[in-house]
Amino acid sequence: MADSTEPLVRLTWTDPVTGTRGYLVVHTLVSGLATGGTRMRAGCTISEVEDLARGMAAKTATFNLPVGGAKGGIDFDPKDPRAMGVLERFCSAMRPWLDAHWVTAEDLGVPQHLIDEVFDRLGLEQSYHAAIRRSADPGRTLRRVQAGLNAPVPGGLLLGDVIGGYGVAQACIGVAGTWGWHAFETTVAIQGIGTMGGGAAWYLHEAGMRVVAVADAAGTLYRPEGLDVPALLELRDAYGEVDRSKVPADVQRLPRNAVMGIEADILVPAAISYAITPDNSIDVAAKVVIEAANSATTPEAEAMLAARGIPVVPDFVANAGAAAWAWWLLLGQVGADPADSFHRLRTEMQAKVALLLGEWSVSGIPPRQTAAELAVANRSALTEVQSVHEPALTIP
Ligand SMILES: NC(=O)c1ccc[n+]([C@@H]2O[C@H](COP(=O)([O-])OP(=O)(O)OC[C@H]3O[C@@H](n4cnc5c(N)ncnc54)[C@H](O)[C@@H]3O)[C@@H](O)[C@H]2O)c1
Repeated sequence: MADSTEPLVRLTWTDPVTGTRGYLVVHTLVSGLATGGTRMRAGCTISEVEDLARGMAAKTATFNLPVGGAKGGIDFDPKDPRAMGVLERFCSAMRPWLDAHWVTAEDLGVPQHLIDEVFDRLGLEQSYHAAIRRSADPGRTLRRVQAGLNAPVPGGLLLGDVIGGYGVAQACIGVAGTWGWHAFETTVAIQGIGTMGGGAAWYLHEAGMRVVAVADAAGTLYRPEGLDVPALLELRDAYGEVDRSKVPADVQRLPRNAVMGIEADILVPAAISYAITPDNSIDVAAKVVIEAANSATTPEAEAMLAARGIPVVPDFVANAGAAAWAWWLLLGQVGADPADSFHRLRTEMQAKVALLLGEWSVSGIPPRQTAAELAVANRSALTEVQSVHEPALTIP
């Protein structure tokens, strides 16, 4: 992580109807703003939310965005029929922050359309409200944000749903480019095939790489010759699980955790936190790990991988595409044409990965350390950190 300082704010909320706990952690404010999604999962804790808020601060600093880091978390099962009500009451209680300082978005268990629905009901229009209301013309900024999020992309999805996975794919393509691997010779294994893993799989397949294994909560699907990614994605349900009854017979069904040990050049953990631990890091057969999930690798496991010559491109670089893109959209640096957004993210992600792997290859410096140093250097160039006063940010 870029820093281990105490967060600025930790809030705990108790739902008066269900007794559910919800948390907001604001790690840093920049120009009075912090950004970070809201997740919902049974068992979510304040320390998890605190780690994620710190990670968001690292992401915004690494990508030099004019905003601090925050995160919301609700300890509730998103599949419970009462989930929408819990989310609405949480957002209502957090309203002073959401109105003025905290820009939130989708995260685990909370899709973007759901959180936008809640914001609309609360009269806050859209989950980027705190930033939109500061712009010179809020109506125009809202239209630009909505047009960007809802821009159609190949595969029948929307730009806002695939941009994070596109960024992960660009991190993988950046590795291949830096190390001189041809796309068609490069193999990838992905744990998780939801928003992030599914998006990454789509764009890696499109780039000509061979996605040989994907795992969902039900198990690992493996085909050494390469999976038909678009066909598999079609078989997913709303929770990112593949309908096994329609999977072709030549695809091997392995246990869920088998994905970790698949012989592939690149391993992308894109599901759960702490997926790679000291217990299973020895199984990792890939040459590099690209963290799509937050905190996918424990520090001990990362050190063990490094000792075996396997670098880890950290979450706050590899999965920062969606967060960075949201701010480029808010600031009017990209619009509704997906080609502009893809170009910007491709360029920035590949350049960062080349820098991190260059330091790793030449000096043996772990990518996380190089990225953390970049974040600190970017932040120290900004003057208004930790201020709740508005201006400094100009949104056209
Ligand atoms: N969605 C985003 O915009 C975004 C952005 C940055 C980081 N992330 C992080 O990426 C990770 C995944 O988020 P998402 O939005 O893609 O989630 P998602 O709910 O859309 O998909 C999760 C996928 O992981 C699978 N899965 C769950 N448990 C598993 C297990 N034990 N083994 C194998 N597969 C398992 C599910 O079946 C599903 O395919 C999370 O850590 C999240 O915080 C998400």
